[in-house]
Amino acid sequence: MSEIQTIPVQVGKGYEVRVGHGLLDTVGKAVKESFPDSRTVIVTDSNVAPLYLERVLDSLRLAGIDAGSCVFAAGETHKNMETLTGILNEAALFRLNRKDLLIALGGGVCGDMTGFAAGCYMRGIPFIQIPTTVLSMVDSSVGGKCAVDLPAGKNLAGVFHQPSLVLCDIDTLDTLPSEFFADGMAEAVKTAVLTGGRLAELCLTPDRDNVRSIITECIRYKAGVVQRDERELGERKLLNLGHTAGHAIEKCSGFQVPHGHAVAVGTAMIARAADLKGLSDGSVSETVEKMLLAWDLPLHTSFSADDLLEASKSDKKAGGAGITAVIPRSVGHCELMDLTFDELYELFRIGL
Ligand SMILES: NC(=O)c1ccc[n+]([C@@H]2O[C@H](COP(=O)([O-])OP(=O)(O)OC[C@H]3O[C@@H](n4cnc5c(N)ncnc54)[C@H](O)[C@@H]3O)[C@@H](O)[C@H]2O)c1
Ligand SMILES: [Zn+2]
Repeated sequence: MSEIQTIPVQVGKGYEVRVGHGLLDTVGKAVKESFPDSRTVIVTDSNVAPLYLERVLDSLRLAGIDAGSCVFAAGETHKNMETLTGILNEAALFRLNRKDLLIALGGGVCGDMTGFAAGCYMRGIPFIQIPTTVLSMVDSSVGGKCAVDLPAGKNLAGVFHQPSLVLCDIDTLDTLPSEFFADGMAEAVKTAVLTGGRLAELCLTPDRDNVRSIITECIRYKAGVVQRDERELGERKLLNLGHTAGHAIEKCSGFQVPHGHAVAVGTAMIARAADLKGLSDGSVSETVEKMLLAWDLPLHTSFSADDLLEASKSDKKAGGAGITAVIPRSVGHCELMDLTFDELYELFRIGL
C-alpha cells in the first residue's frame, strides 16, 4: 500500500482524516484500535453495497469485530426521515448500545444520514465515515453537518455530529460514474477559488493523477475552517461560495440539475458578476471558467435572473431582507457580503 496522508481535525474530541489507497482493508484494524470492544452496523446504499460492502465486512471480521449491515435505496430522494428510521431500527435490531458505532460507507447521502442516525441513536453514538464519492471526500464527510431532507426542503432536519475517523480510499473512485465524479470536482474548484495557490494550480490540470492531491488539499482547508468555526457563524459561510445561485438552480430545475453542476454554474456566475461589477481584480472569472471546463463542468444556466431570485428568497440561508453572499475578490481571496434581494438580483442578471 502506498503512503497514507493523515489530516487531524481538532473539533470536539478531535479526529483523523486518512487519505490513501487500499484503506477499505484497514477498517477492521482502525475500529479495533479506537473501539476495542465494540460492535458495528455498516450503513451503505444499493449501488455501493455490491461493490464494497463485503470487503469492509471481511476486514471487520478479520479483526474480530461483530458487524451487521443496513442497505438503503441509493439516491437523494431517499435521504429522508423514512430511511433514517430504517437505519435507527437496524441499529436497534442489531442491539447496538452506547459504546458501539455506525459506519457510513458511501457518498454524501449515506454519510449525512448515518451521521444523523449516530447523533440521535441512544442520544448519540460514534460513527466512522468512509466516503466513496469525490464530493463526500472533499466536502461532506468532514465537518460534522448531518441532515435529511424534509418535504418542505433540503437538509432541514439534522444535527452537528463529528465523526470519530474518516477513511478516504481513493481506489473507490475508480467505479464512480463520470457525472458524479464531475459533480464532486465542482466543490473542489469552489475550494480552489477560496484557497488559490497549489490547489488552484492542480484544478487547472484535468489529470486523474492530481485527484488524490486535490482531495487532500480540500480536506486540509476544510478541516482548518471547521476548527475555527464549527457552527458556521462566520468563516465557514465562505464554503457556500457559488451556492446561492447554485441552490436556486437546483430548486428551479426541480432538483434535476445535480448539486455539483449547479454549484459550478453558481461559482462561474458570481465570478463573472464580481469581475463586471468591479468587486474583484477583474480576472477571477477567467480562471474559474478554465478550472470548471477542465473537469467538464457547465458555466451557464438557462434560468432567468427572475426565476433564480424567486428561488433564492425561499433559501433556508436567506434572512427576511436579503442573503449573505460569498464574493470572490481574487482567486485565493473571497469575502462575505450582506446583500439585499435587489442587489442579489443585479448580480444574477450580470453574472448569467
Ligand atoms: N454534510 C455536508 O457538509 C455536506 C456537504 C455537501 C454535500 N452534502 C450532501 O451530500 C449529498 C451528495 O453527495 P454525493 O454526491 O456523494 O451523492 P450520493 O451519496 O447520492 O452518491 C452519488 C451516486 O454515486 C453512487 N456511488 C457512491 N460511491 C460510489 C462508488 N465509489 N462507485 C460507484 N457508485 C458510487 C451512489 O450510489 C449515488 O448513486 C447531498 O445530499 C448533499 O446535501 C453534505
Ligand atoms: Zn455544496
